[in-house]
Amino acid sequence: MGGELAGKVAVITGAASGIGRAAAELFVKEGAKVVLADIDAQHGEELAAQLGAAAAFRRTDVADAAQVQALVDFAVAHHGGLHIMFNNAGISGAMHDRFLDDDLKDFQRVIGINLFGVMTGSQCAARHMARNGGGSIVNNASIAGVLPGHALMSYRASKAAVILFSKSIAIDLAEYGIRVNCLAPGHIRTPLTSFGGPGLSPEQAERVKAAVSPVFDSNQPLKRHGRPEDVAQAALFLASDRAAQVTGILMPVDGGITAGDPVNHLAEILKARNQALAG
Ligand SMILES: NC(=O)c1ccc[n+]([C@@H]2O[C@H](COP(=O)([O-])OP(=O)(O)OC[C@H]3O[C@@H](n4cnc5c(N)ncnc54)[C@H](O)[C@@H]3O)[C@@H](O)[C@H]2O)c1
Repeated sequence: MGGELAGKVAVITGAASGIGRAAAELFVKEGAKVVLADIDAQHGEELAAQLGAAAAFRRTDVADAAQVQALVDFAVAHHGGLHIMFNNAGISGAMHDRFLDDDLKDFQRVIGINLFGVMTGSQCAARHMARNGGGSIVNNASIAGVLPGHALMSYRASKAAVILFSKSIAIDLAEYGIRVNCLAPGHIRTPLTSFGGPGLSPEQAERVKAAVSPVFDSNQPLKRHGRPEDVAQAALFLASDRAAQVTGILMPVDGGITAGDPVNHLAEILKARNQALAG
């Protein structure tokens, strides 16, 4: 066991799956006591049992402010404090590929979880941290919050808002010793990006995975597949005292997607030119 988070108490929302699950495993390994929050009680409770006495599960819908306050109160009562709040729970919303097909009711659901959930989680945690010597808030945004593009408009809007919200409260909360930072994962292999759906057999799900993988990789300079553990490591750094002088940042964990387009346009142009001349 490492000791990066020894003596710290952390709340992780969306901890029953994907990135939140990987963060829960890593934070416990690094000595933290954690409260796992999720609407998925079955997987959340299973994980807490697996992680032992350092972990407890609390069913929480982050879109409900009263439940989020109860979550923070539970962490303080159960583990004796709260030093790290990882607001990670999020949904993609309906997967329409064109805005004209979007149902804007979906927008309210996405904003309720992805933005309002992060705002309430940040405020409830910060109120405790401000009275108790500070802490670290890590909010999970997305590269979709900085890259305009086709589809997922509600998701993009919610994540862009999370980024500006986090930077702004980083300034406001600094005087209390509270650091606030954001993560921007790229393509990370989790259920959120599986394009599976409940109707698929395991064999069909594998076929879909194989088919969508190269498409995911196409705009990513590093061709290695992003894993939940990659994002958990970044969350660990921002949560830990190693990042004591780091606040108000957006840290991409995206294999270089936001660094720029991996297509060598000059090579493509020269190829087209040479083909044109040869023809
Ligand atoms: N996977 C990616 O490629 C990727 C990329 C960028 C950002 N993200 C962000 O990372 C975060 C985690 O995503 P993931 O890929 O691990 O997804 P995931 O679907 O594997 O896990 C999300 C978890 O959040 C929980 N959840 C959903 N609604 C909730 C609610 N109202 N209250 C509490 N919990 C709720 C789900 O039950 C699930 O356990 C999200 O905010 C997502 O937007 C993911």
